[in-house]
Amino acid sequence: MHPSKSQEELIVELSTVMERFSAQSVALGEMYNALEMQAVQLKKMQEEVNQSRVLSALGEMAATVAHEIRNPLGGIGSYASLLARGIPPEDPKRKYVDKIIGGVSSLNKIVSNLLAYTKKTNLQKQNTDLVTWVEAILAHAEIEIEKEKKNVRIERNFPSEPLCAEIDNERLQQVMLNLLINSIQAIEAEGKITVCIRSRENFAEIIVADTGKGIDPEHLSSLFTPFFTTKEQGTGLGLAIVKKIIDLHEGKISVESTQAGTSFCIEIPF
Ligand SMILES: Nc1ncnc2c1ncn2[C@@H]1O[C@H](COP(=O)(O)OP(=O)(O)OP(=O)(O)O)[C@@H](O)[C@H]1O
Ligand SMILES: [Mg+2]
Repeated sequence: MHPSKSQEELIVELSTVMERFSAQSVALGEMYNALEMQAVQLKKMQEEVNQSRVLSALGEMAATVAHEIRNPLGGIGSYASLLARGIPPEDPKRKYVDKIIGGVSSLNKIVSNLLAYTKKTNLQKQNTDLVTWVEAILAHAEIEIEKEKKNVRIERNFPSEPLCAEIDNERLQQVMLNLLINSIQAIEAEGKITVCIRSRENFAEIIVADTGKGIDPEHLSSLFTPFFTTKEQGTGLGLAIVKKIIDLHEGKISVESTQAGTSFCIEIPF
C-alpha cells in the first residue's frame, strides 16, 4: 500500500496540475484566436470570389448589351446625318439634329469602351519597330489636336535605330491613343506633349509626358479603376483599358504628376 500523501504533497501536485491546465488553456485560447482569424480571412476570400463572379457576369452582360446596342446606334447616327444634310445650318431644327448626332457619338464612345474593357483577349503579338509604329499613332493624335482646336506641340525623343518589341499593335495603339488624348484634354489652350521611346535592360520604355493641368494627388490611386473620371463627357474606362492591355503584355505602367504636368511611363518586356 502506498503511504498516504501528506496534505502538502497533495497541494503541490494540485498546483502543478493547475499550472499545466492554465498553460494549456492559454495555448487553446491562442489556437482559438488563430482559427477565428482564419475564419475571418476565409469569409473575406469567399466574399471576394463572389464579388469577382458577379463582376465577371456583369462584364459579360455589359459586353452583350453593348454589342446589341451598337447596330441600332449606327442606324440612328446615319439617319441623323442624312437628316442634317437636308437642313440648312440656319434652320432652328438643325440644332436638334446636331444634338442627336452628338448624343449618338457619346453613346458610341461608351459602347466601344465597354466592349474594349470587357473583351476576352488573346493578344496577337507581332515583332514591331516601336519608332515607326508610334509615329503612325502620332498622326492620329495630330488630328485630335486639330479637332480640339488647341495649340499642342508634340516633341519626339526617339532612338535613331529601330527598336523592336513583340506587341499587339492594335491593342497597344489603343493604349497610346488613350494616353495621348488624355494629355491633349489636360492641356488648356497650348502646351507640349513629349513622347519618348528608349531601350532599357530587358524592356522597352515608352513615356508620354504633358504640360497639362496635372492630377490631384488624391486621385492618383483611382486612375486605373473602371469608371473613375473627372470629365463631364468621360467614361472613365480609358485608363482601365490601358492597364488591362499593359497587364496582358506582362508590362508595367506608372504615373507621376505635378501641377506642371503629367507623365505616364510604360514598360514592355522584350
Ligand atoms: N494626362 C492627364 N492629365 C491630367 N489628368 C489625367 C491625365 N490622364 C488621366 N487623367 C485623369 O484621370 C481620369 C481618368 O482617365 P480615363 O482616361 O480613364 O478616363 P476619362 O479620360 O475621364 O474618360 P474617357 O477616357 O472615357 O474619355 C481623368 O478623368 C482625369 O481626371
Ligand atoms: Mg481618357
